[in-house]
Amino acid sequence: MNMKQLTVFKQMVYFLGILYSFFACCNNDSMTVKSPDGKIEVKVSANNHRVSYAVNKENKEVILPSKLGFVLEDGDSLNRFTITGTQYASFDETWEQPWGESRFVRNHYNELKVLLQEAGGNRKVNIIFRLFNDGVGYRYEFPQQEVDSLVILTEETEFKMPYVHDAWWIPASDPYYECITTRSAISKLDTVRTPLTIETTDGKYLAIHEANLTNYPKMNLTVKDSATLCASLVPWSNGVAAYVKIPFSTPWRTLIIGEKPGDLVTSYLMLNLNEPSKIEDTSWLKPGKYIGIWWEMHLGKGTWYYGPNHGATTTNLKKYIDFAAANGISGVLAEGWNEGWEGDWTKHGNELDFTKPYPDFNIKEITDYAREKGVSMIGHHETAAATLNYERQLDKAFAFYQKYGVNIVKTGYVNPLMDFKEAHDSQYGVRHYRKVIETAAKYHIAIDNHEPVMPTGIERTWPNLMTQEAIRGQEHNAWSPDGGNPPEHTTVVPFTRGLAGPMDFTFGTFNFKNEVYPGTRVNTTLCKQLALFVVIYSPLQMASDLPENYEGIKAFDFIKDVPTDWDKTRVVDAEIGNYSIFARKDRNSSDWYVGCITDENARELDISLDFLDADAKYIAQIYADGDDADWKTNPTSFKYEEKTLTASETLHVKLATSGGCAIRFIKQ
Ligand code: NOJ
Ligand code: CA
Repeated sequence: MNMKQLTVFKQMVYFLGILYSFFACCNNDSMTVKSPDGKIEVKVSANNHRVSYAVNKENKEVILPSKLGFVLEDGDSLNRFTITGTQYASFDETWEQPWGESRFVRNHYNELKVLLQEAGGNRKVNIIFRLFNDGVGYRYEFPQQEVDSLVILTEETEFKMPYVHDAWWIPASDPYYECITTRSAISKLDTVRTPLTIETTDGKYLAIHEANLTNYPKMNLTVKDSATLCASLVPWSNGVAAYVKIPFSTPWRTLIIGEKPGDLVTSYLMLNLNEPSKIEDTSWLKPGKYIGIWWEMHLGKGTWYYGPNHGATTTNLKKYIDFAAANGISGVLAEGWNEGWEGDWTKHGNELDFTKPYPDFNIKEITDYAREKGVSMIGHHETAAATLNYERQLDKAFAFYQKYGVNIVKTGYVNPLMDFKEAHDSQYGVRHYRKVIETAAKYHIAIDNHEPVMPTGIERTWPNLMTQEAIRGQEHNAWSPDGGNPPEHTTVVPFTRGLAGPMDFTFGTFNFKNEVYPGTRVNTTLCKQLALFVVIYSPLQMASDLPENYEGIKAFDFIKDVPTDWDKTRVVDAEIGNYSIFARKDRNSSDWYVGCITDENARELDISLDFLDADAKYIAQIYADGDDADWKTNPTSFKYEEKTLTASETLHVKLATSGGCAIRFIKQ
């Protein structure tokens, strides 16, 4: 889309705004609003001063009338209202992402704002609903009024399901969101995280999450009456959920409604509900791949702390930089380069110093060397969740890296509580992470946040927040006592955690022996490791294995070639927890890439190639599991072949147990 087309879209906004009043209806105590295609409808009703909302799609109930409101401190509440007015609006705009899974995103919605006044009082709250063709977002807005602050203990927000559907969930008890996903009936859930992905009894797919989590706690969900999901806000240590200064808007509560699992992935509703970029010139944000001084420490072969096996030494860095330069990899991460890693560092984060390198790490020599070779060093700030210590050093720490030309920093928060007190995803934590992102932007530094608060699309507003963890990633395949991530794991996460944004999973293992932690390993074939570069999205992708394990192996060509920034994304086919086929078009060429993966079952799949340009021929470079491949007994067996293919053809692939297939389509 060019600028002229964008302008036409923006003009449509006004036009639709006028037209729209014919499609919305309102009577005294119930109002409706529909999605632009008319298929999804939200109905807001007031009954004895209790306001509820319900969602239908094509006249079928998706959410039954569900409560809205707040419980405040000192026995106070804000949940009985009189409707004082309604406002309707429409919007249609196509915007361009600086990096992403889709270059252009259409933000097209109809909006209903319901103005509420407290029954028997004068506090005011507005509830804003935005209806897109693929789902709904709503938020509470406290407009400027006499009262200027609130202390919120809970939200009464509910999602009442018509039936006890199945959900894929992780428990709220893990502060890092690094759990295996369980599938069960909603009635069996305890308190769970969002994104919560649901398969309805009539075979549709829903995902509940939130967008634009700013100065407020994360929303978990608890179950009531077997099929009602209730918001449960992560509190401060004193039990308060949020201290709010009015005017204020809560994050959006989001519901994607899909016909198939892939519809959840290609919904951009969460991004649309965030504010446009605050960074005007985004040319310094560079998607790319990286290797690093990392896997060797997780395998116990090197140390983060200074000593005879220290990983981040000038010599070791230069070895990695040479390998990156020779293979077109843009970044090299160095962990354990700074003072403070001695002993159990997770317990004394206050000793971590972000401007004092260990004596065997010469940052000037390393970054000069990297620059000469066309590679960048990726910095690392492990904070051990000692956020006060980190915030004291923040400006100095980013200025230090900026001076040496480091413009991506991986941050980490390994301690279940921030400053031994507050949850990562409490209002305290949310404020801290945002301060880091905004400060980093001042120094032109992009962030890869490990142990973060669950992402909510903030990267639209702050595109220097390039990727995050909040997932049980590859590190668990090094040391988890349970043997590592089971084969099914990566067939689930694109449809659960992946809906929240980029994932720094860090796959790419070619060596399946783990001498340090026998019994724990990467539970896939080598080709599945390749395919994950397409299936799991991140604009920064780590090839995590040691350089020596890549030397001389043909399959590494795929890692060298695969881009990390996409023009468009298609989920060709998927069954959550069984298999998935993703196709993505490179943003900087006419090549397409396909990744298919399976769970513990070997399978044969037919890939319809109709995503390719209709009138073109493509050379397909196919990296497939060898005929004798098996993730347990023969994970490295693979075969490479080339075929000429067109959009009208179907490609038949065979996947081994926990196997995969990775394909590059080069347009002729
Ligand atoms: C946990 C992070 O997820 C991991 O990638 C990192 O190596 C360690 N913390 C040390 O900071
Ligand atoms: Ca982690």
